[in-house]
This record gives sequence, C-alpha cells and structure tokens, in this order.
Amino acid sequence: MKKILVLNGPNLNLLGVREKSIYGEQSFEDYFKSLKDRFASIDLTYFQSNSEGAIIDKLHQVGFDFDGIVLNAGAYTHTSVAIADAIAGITTPVVEVHISNVHQRESFRHHSYLSKNCKGVILGFGLDSYRLGIESFI
Ligand code: DQA
Repeated sequence: MKKILVLNGPNLNLLGVREKSIYGEQSFEDYFKSLKDRFASIDLTYFQSNSEGAIIDKLHQVGFDFDGIVLNAGAYTHTSVAIADAIAGITTPVVEVHISNVHQRESFRHHSYLSKNCKGVILGFGLDSYRLGIESFI
C-alpha cells in the first residue's frame, strides 16, 4: 500500500472560516474525509502545523519512508529557505500545491522557495489541487 502524506502549513487549519472568497467554505477535515474515501487503497495521512519547525520535523520524519508528500506550506512557501532545504534533503518526492492561483494575487506570492526542489507544482484548482497532487503519485 502506498503511503502518502498531505502536509498543510500555517493558517490552513482555518479553511472554511478564513477568507472564504479565496479558499472556499469547506474545512480541511471534511475535505480530507472525502480524499480518504476516494483513495481507499492508499495509506493517506494528514498533518497540519502553524510552525515552520514542526513542518520541517514532519518532512524529516516521513521523508525517507513515504511514497509521496503533498505539501501546501501556505505563506512559508514565499519565505522559507529552511523548508526548501528540508525538501532537498529527503528522498520522498514532494508535490507543492496551492488552493488559490497565487499568480493572480499579490506579487509577493509569485515566488516560491520550494518549487525548485519539488517534483511538480499544482495550483489554482481550489481544494481539488490536493486530489491532483495525490494522483500525481499513482
Ligand atoms: C496558499 C497561498 C499562499 O500564498 C497563502 O499564504 C496561503 C495559502 C494557497 O493554498 O493558495 O496560506 O498556499
């Protein structure tokens, strides 16, 4: 059974509450249940943290063992050399995802420190970006 981690960074615990016009009405917990049903043949796990260090620790923890990581690092995408280095340092491939099309938004969201070290990038499809990220591993 393939092992895939969905890893969410800061403020993504507020999905369904936060800036609904950009991020939608559904909580991630609800959406993740639908992913679990859809991908019943995959060992799919979910982790969210608002802190950079915890995200890095999680990448280290699963990054030599899992088959894929679907990562939405939230705002750390645009700031974190440390998360970029963690992705480079592990062997599990990482797909970067974003709910919104960051290229239609403020210019500070146009640059990602992470993309260079990721297998690919999926953005702008709403929560469906996560499904597409998982499908890229199967
Ligand atoms: C985001 C885009 C980021 O710019 C933002 O800071 C987020 C969410 C997205 O999924 O669209 O927190 O990663």
